[in-house]
Amino acid sequence: RDLEERCAAPAGRLRQVADAMAAAMRAGLASDDYEIGNGSALKMLLTYVDSLPSGDEKGLFYALDLGGTNFRVLRIQLGGKERRIIKQQSEGVSIPQALMSRGSNELFDFIASALAKFVNSEDEDFHLPEGMQRQLGFTFSFPVKQTSVASGTLIKWTKGFAIDEMVGKDVVAELNKAIKRQGLDMKITMLINDTVGTLSAGRYVDHDVTAAVILGTGTNAAYIEHVSAIPKWHGPLPKSGDMVINMEWGNFKSSHLPLTEFDVALDAESLNPGEQIYEKLISGMYMGEIVRRVLLKMADDAALFADNVPKNLEIPRILSTLHMLMMHQDATPDLNIVGVKLKEILGIESTCYKTRKMVVDVCEVVASRAARLAAAGVYGILKKLGRDIASPNEQKTVIAVDGGVYKYYTFFAQCMESTLKDLLGEGVASSVVIKLVEDGSGTGAALLAASYSQCLQYED
Ligand code: BG6
Ligand code: GLC
Repeated sequence: RDLEERCAAPAGRLRQVADAMAAAMRAGLASDDYEIGNGSALKMLLTYVDSLPSGDEKGLFYALDLGGTNFRVLRIQLGGKERRIIKQQSEGVSIPQALMSRGSNELFDFIASALAKFVNSEDEDFHLPEGMQRQLGFTFSFPVKQTSVASGTLIKWTKGFAIDEMVGKDVVAELNKAIKRQGLDMKITMLINDTVGTLSAGRYVDHDVTAAVILGTGTNAAYIEHVSAIPKWHGPLPKSGDMVINMEWGNFKSSHLPLTEFDVALDAESLNPGEQIYEKLISGMYMGEIVRRVLLKMADDAALFADNVPKNLEIPRILSTLHMLMMHQDATPDLNIVGVKLKEILGIESTCYKTRKMVVDVCEVVASRAARLAAAGVYGILKKLGRDIASPNEQKTVIAVDGGVYKYYTFFAQCMESTLKDLLGEGVASSVVIKLVEDGSGTGAALLAASYSQCLQYED
């Protein structure tokens, strides 16, 4: 009950969170003061993407996806007006822990060699016209200060990566060098964040898509902003009048966030203390770890698992969010899955129903807080765009969402959606839709690479 109280996120508090989010968005659009350690917690990064896929995109493109749970290489054939997309991808692999903190060459050589292996296994279903250079869209899901659609420097790492020498370097230049070292002939035509890929892939199938949210290992959002509302943009006015903004909302913080002692300790012991506070409350990399910390305290203070504190429970990150959701969503009458997981992961031999139910309750408290806060974030974006009130022309707003937490944690997705509906209230709720749009890093990167491609692959 104590945990429940401390994690409480009632509607009133969520409205304060949303207002703070909208204010931080405005501040981040006004200046890049984060660069001097000042200013908004939201970087509101310019992406240079000022037009989204039209639906006519055509040609063969490659995509690299780095930053989610798995790293992947994709080959995508876009079919033009018919919108027939053929896709092939390598097996997803998680980046070895050691490569996440060594040198940039090691990391980039690893991904370029996977790319080379994939390219060399060319498939006859995919056609690259004679004499054409292969084109690549790079989805790099970390905060990047873009200097064009195909260049940008890494601002900082998130989600457990920590290669210091890479910070401040041009990500595309590093990948280019690694591609050359592999002897590959390839042009990187697009550098995007996963949120931007999801937005583009969403927009391709539904013109009402206005924003995209990733709820996975990390969390973030991107949306379409009027250039006139971006005081820090000093470039030319794009034809569309709009630009996609990568919010990097994971770094949001506010005194209205319901932080507990567990969150404070998790943050202090993380690779990036003081940063990504919202992400540490919401995303897949952290929720299971919060649950572990709560269970450890309950084992210590209240002998939750009998007299001995299970040794494994003391191991940081041993309980993943995947384990958490499997326990939370256990539908067996005796909570057998909870029992099995507690044994498998934490080495706890036998547990009674009451203990298992307590574990489920802890998962529920942590997941509800996260889902409700994610809904407040979306509500904040809608407020900023003035789409939190009924529009006279019944304009629809679609939010494209992707990421493992949203896809696999049914409770989370449902709780987030019902919370957003409550916040919006009747009348507006029906005009806002959350839509799962999968594979922004594949389809989205290819679509953008195609629309921004300098060299047309096919004559119409
Ligand atoms: C994928 C997107 O489906 O979701 C990726 O295509 C994104 O671009 C990923 O990074 C995020 O999810 P997760 O759960 O793998 O971190
Ligand atoms: C982290 C990254 C961000 C990414 C998000 C989801 O927050 O900083 O760029 O979009 O994770 O993958």
